[in-house]
Formats: sequence, structure tokens, C-alpha cells
Amino acid sequence: MSSEATLSAAARAAELRSALERANHDYHVLDRPTLSDAEYDRLFRELREIEALHPQLRTPDSPTRRVGAEPASRLEKTPHLAPLLSLDNAFNAGELRAWETRNARIAAEVRTAGYTVEPKMDGLAVALTYEDGVLVKGATRGNGIIGEDVTRNLRTIREIPLRLQGTAGAIPELMEVRGEVYLPLSGFQELNARRAGEGQPTFANPRNAAAGSLRQLDPSITAGRPLRFFAFAMEIAPGNRHRLDMRTQSELLRQLAAWGLPVNPRFRHLADLDEVVDTVEHLERERETLDYEIDGAVVKVEPLALHAELGIVGGREPRWAIAYKFAPSLATTRLTAIELNVGRTGSLNPYAVLEPVEIGGATVRLATLHNEEDIRRKDIRVGDRVLVKRAGEVIPQVVGPVVEGGELRREPFQMPDHCPACGTPVERPADEVMSYCPNGACPARIYWGLVHFASRGAMDIRGLGERTTQQLIEAGLVSDPADLYGLGVEQLLGLEGFQQKSAENLIAGIAESKDRGLARVLFGLGVRHVGETAAELLARAFGTMDRMIGADIDDFAAVHGIGGTTAEALAAFLAEPRNRETIAKLGLAGVRLSAEQASPAEGPFTGLSFVITGTLPTLSRKDAAVAIERAGGRVTGSVTRKTDFLVVGEDAGSKLEKARELNIPQLSEADLLARIAADVDRS
Ligand code: IVH
Repeated sequence: MSSEATLSAAARAAELRSALERANHDYHVLDRPTLSDAEYDRLFRELREIEALHPQLRTPDSPTRRVGAEPASRLEKTPHLAPLLSLDNAFNAGELRAWETRNARIAAEVRTAGYTVEPKMDGLAVALTYEDGVLVKGATRGNGIIGEDVTRNLRTIREIPLRLQGTAGAIPELMEVRGEVYLPLSGFQELNARRAGEGQPTFANPRNAAAGSLRQLDPSITAGRPLRFFAFAMEIAPGNRHRLDMRTQSELLRQLAAWGLPVNPRFRHLADLDEVVDTVEHLERERETLDYEIDGAVVKVEPLALHAELGIVGGREPRWAIAYKFAPSLATTRLTAIELNVGRTGSLNPYAVLEPVEIGGATVRLATLHNEEDIRRKDIRVGDRVLVKRAGEVIPQVVGPVVEGGELRREPFQMPDHCPACGTPVERPADEVMSYCPNGACPARIYWGLVHFASRGAMDIRGLGERTTQQLIEAGLVSDPADLYGLGVEQLLGLEGFQQKSAENLIAGIAESKDRGLARVLFGLGVRHVGETAAELLARAFGTMDRMIGADIDDFAAVHGIGGTTAEALAAFLAEPRNRETIAKLGLAGVRLSAEQASPAEGPFTGLSFVITGTLPTLSRKDAAVAIERAGGRVTGSVTRKTDFLVVGEDAGSKLEKARELNIPQLSEADLLARIAADVDRS
């Protein structure tokens, strides 16, 4: 290596060290992060790589040798029984596999010994000291060796047991339970709303709010914050005389739970890394549904004996555990405007226009604001810095404002009293949180109504997307769903972008939709409060549209599963002449307005059985399954001799191996779609 290269590496390492130190201080001491987790991880990795390449550049005080920042000084310091460790990160399935491969060189059994997967709580680590089962001390992580004494604060968290359950003989004389203190999202929003109301600065995110709430000199402040706790590890003092029957990580978690400590019920014990990969990916998709922030999953080798064998790297990271990190899902940015969308039911849906911000690898410019009441409750105002959340396929949402004390703010948001699309005065039904445009002929309602009518769960009209819908309306060809069925190829040829073939395809797609049945027509009509499930229940109960038209509110409400609000909305919808006319036109056009007994689809895959594994390039597994079922096939969960095809995507695991063993033919997503399309062309 040339000395020049070493020189620039030295400069870069110094730069990285000071950036990381500063970030550590901001995060751990000030509870005010200045780098995103992803950015921190990237710098950290870069520094570690430089140090690995140039060992002479390692310094004893490098952030790569430390676990956190020095604790802040206001609280008493207290040493931990054993260091609180950090975790190495993996950002994709390949890095998880590389981790296993490294471990297998030390202990080949890891490949078959099993793993646990636990959600990685995004809170703050604490160590609880129990002496003969009694809580005597609680400390924050601090620098990993010495933490801050927050015993009195931790005692205010109700689910942390002051005394463990079980006989004294079964509890070690001295041990530390490790876990994470966190603030649920609902608690976070409540806390911020309260603070905003009192004119105090709000917290940037739940983790900061949890840390700020716990690291208080006055425990009565902590007591007023809805903090929660999950335990996930323990450290037993040497010389313990009690026998504990724990051989694996999942037994350890069960032991913690048996002592009365809260353990995250979402932990899983899995046979091998393929299952681990499936599970962490599943958890990432589920992330949005949880009432607490997780930033990844922690994967741990199951047998505790292997933990000892695999050991700890650099006094900092155990080899037997790794954090699988999700793409970050929270960011703050400026709210530049609040605009309104008029939905198909006439609801005025506010949405946020944001200064573009990167979240989880995508640039977010728009986010939902739910409704007027939500905006008011969270006190979100144009010009505020706001916390934005995004995960997976879900529409990004504004969680709440991040207001600095003393900032001048604009006036609270006001819902307009006229529809922004057609100017009709809006209505706000008593005990509803939404305002509505009551005009059935409102162009925005017609547009969204058509988009909804043609959508997947409704009439599923192939080839009719938002752009084409817009064109059809602008050309004056359709103004209600029934008009679609009167369209001909000639009319479409007059529209920009249409050729003979594409026009014929759209007409065929429309014709195909005539037979979807009553439930989907009903759902497609976009009656307020009538979702897919309600539509299905109503279609089954009444059988035909005629019978529904002849019924009244009480008849609707008598259907099991249909509530008063839905019954009322449906009766009002069917009473409206405009809607009656649409329904009559649909019937005349040959759209089936009756329910049917479900019979399996006929198609190119009739009688064939499929298994789907791995991540497909464009389709979700559910979409692929729907496509197969529409073509007459069956989709099952595991590969057996009876499986006819395995549909394979990225990162396929044990199912692929099994299919190879059994000589089962494989299909890519492209193969699958080609087979379905080939048949459509023939028919
Ligand atoms: S295990 C080796 N399990 O993540 C034991 N940690 O980046 C190390 N964390 O300090 C911890 N959820 O604060 C473990 N289920 C979980 C966790 C978890 C959150 C935090 C913990 C730890 C940090 C490591």
C-alpha cells in the first residue's frame, strides 16, 4: 500500500471518527439525533473497513471500539454486571447468509441448530438488577460498561416487576435483566399533543421521547409518560448456586416471561436461515401494523452453548446475534401545503404537500392527513416541520408536528365550506369526522367513482387505469359506470395513444367484467360504508339487485354483519334517481346483477398445483396466487410430490431445494405470466 493511500485513509478515518463521535453524543447524551440510523451505520462501516485495511490507523478511542457515548453527568453513574453489547448489522438476506457462513467456520452446527427472531425494538436499552428476585437497581446503557442510575424512574413503569414470580430457589441470587424501554406510537402522539397544547417543544420521534422520559431527575415526570418495557436477555452473576433449566434462547425468553417479565410475543423459534429470511421479511411487512417502532429484527443462534463457543468480537458485538435492519421509516420535513382530494363518496380528503424527503429508499412528496379532526387533534399546521412515516406499500402519513419552542406558527387548518371540485356547499354529518361533497354529479366524484368501479376488488376491468379514465371523461364518452358498456372500438380510436389492438383489448376487458356478479357491482358502485365484505354479505342475503331496490333500511340492517350506518347509507344511495338510473343502465347493458354460487375458475392451469417461493420481481405473492387461481390453478404452502410447478423469485430457500430434490419444474414470474397470456391469446 502506498504511503499516500495510507495518508488519505488516515484523514478519512479521522473525519469519520469525529463525525461518529458527534453523532453518538447527539444521540445518547442530548437525545437529539443528527444523523439517520442508516447514515450512522454507513459511516460506521466505512470506518471499520478502513481500520481493517490499515490496522496501524486504529486508535484506542475509536467509535468502533465503543458501545455508546459517555453517559450524561446529571444522573448517578453505575457500572453494569457485564457490558451491554451492541449488534452487527445485516441489511439484506445475503448479509444474513454471510453471517451464518462466518459462524459455521467456528461452529459448523449453527446451520442446523436453529435461530430465534425477535423484533428489534427502537427504544432504549436498560439493565434491571434483581437480587433474590427483588428489583434493586435499573440503569441505562450509558457507554455499555457504565450507565446512569434510573432506578426510581424505572419503578414507575408498571409492567416492570418489583419482585419476580417464582420460588426463591429458582431465581439467581444476583442477575441483570436486559431489555428495551419504549414508547408506543399512540402514547407518543398523545404526549406530543399534550406538550404542543402546553406550548412545550415536541419530541422528534418515539425513541427520543422514551429516552427523554426515562432520563429525568424527577421520577414523577417519568410516571406521567406511558412507557413500556420488553425483556430479551439476562446476565447472571458468577457463582450463582441455582440451577436454571435453560439451554436455548427461546427457553431463556420463556424463563423471563415465567418470572413475570414482559417478553415480546412476536418472537419466533425457527429451524434454519431460510425460515429466518421469510420471517424477517414478513415482520418488515407487518411493521406498519404495530403500535411501536421497530427498526429491524434481531436474529440469535438458538443454543446458549453455541453463544459461548462463538464468543464476542472486539468486546463489542457477539457473533451469535445480528440485527437485520429494515429501511428507515420515519423522517422529518417541512409541510408546505394542505390540499384536498374529493373521493368517490364525496369525502374531502386532506393530504400533505411536503418538502421532498428520503424515507426508506423512496422520495416522499405527499402524505395522507386522514381528516380534519385528525389535523386539529395533532395540531398540524402549514409551515410546520412534521414527522412523516412510511413503510412498505402503505401510503406515507404525517404522524404529527415537530415544533420548536418559540416558533411562530400559521393559523390552524380550516376545511373549506365549498367542494373544491364543483363548488357545492359541503356537508359534515353529525358524529362523522369527514366532510362530504353531496353532489352526485361532481366531476371529481365521477372520476374517482369510475377508477374505483374498474379497480381490482370491484369490476377489475383490464386496461382501464386512471389515465384512460381521465381521457374517457374529458372526451365526454362516459359520465357514469354504465356508459363504459356502451363504448365501441371506433370511439376509442379517436383518443390519444389508442390503436386498433389496444382499443380492442380495452373493449374486451370491459365485456369480460360483465359477469363479476352482484357483490362486486355493489362494491364497485362506491356506496358510502359499503366495503368488499359488506357488499358480499348483502349480495348473499338479497341475491339480486331488484330485491335490494325493493328493500328498506330495516331489511338491510337485519342482515348479519350490517350496521345501522351502512343500512342508512345504502337506502339513501338506492333512493337517489341518478343511482337508480345507473343501475338500470348496467342491467340493460348485460351486467349481471345477481349473486352466484362460487365455482372454481376454468383455465390453462385447471387441475394443477403451484407453490410460490422467494420475492418475485413485480408481483406480490398474493397477486401471483390470484393470477394462478384465476387461471384455474391451486396454490399451496409447501412442496410435495403432488406439486406441479414451483414459482421461484429472489432469495428462494428451502422450498427450492425441496423442489430440486423432487424434480419439480420451476417457473419464473415471466414464465408464469407468459403461460397465462398464451392461453388468453388463444381463447
Ligand atoms: S439483543 C447480544 N434483542 O438493539 C445482546 N437487542 O443494536 C444484545 N434491541 O443494545 C441485545 N431489541 O438496545 C437484543 N430483541 C432484542 C432487541 C435488542 C432491541 C436493542 C438493544 C441493543 C441494541 C443493539
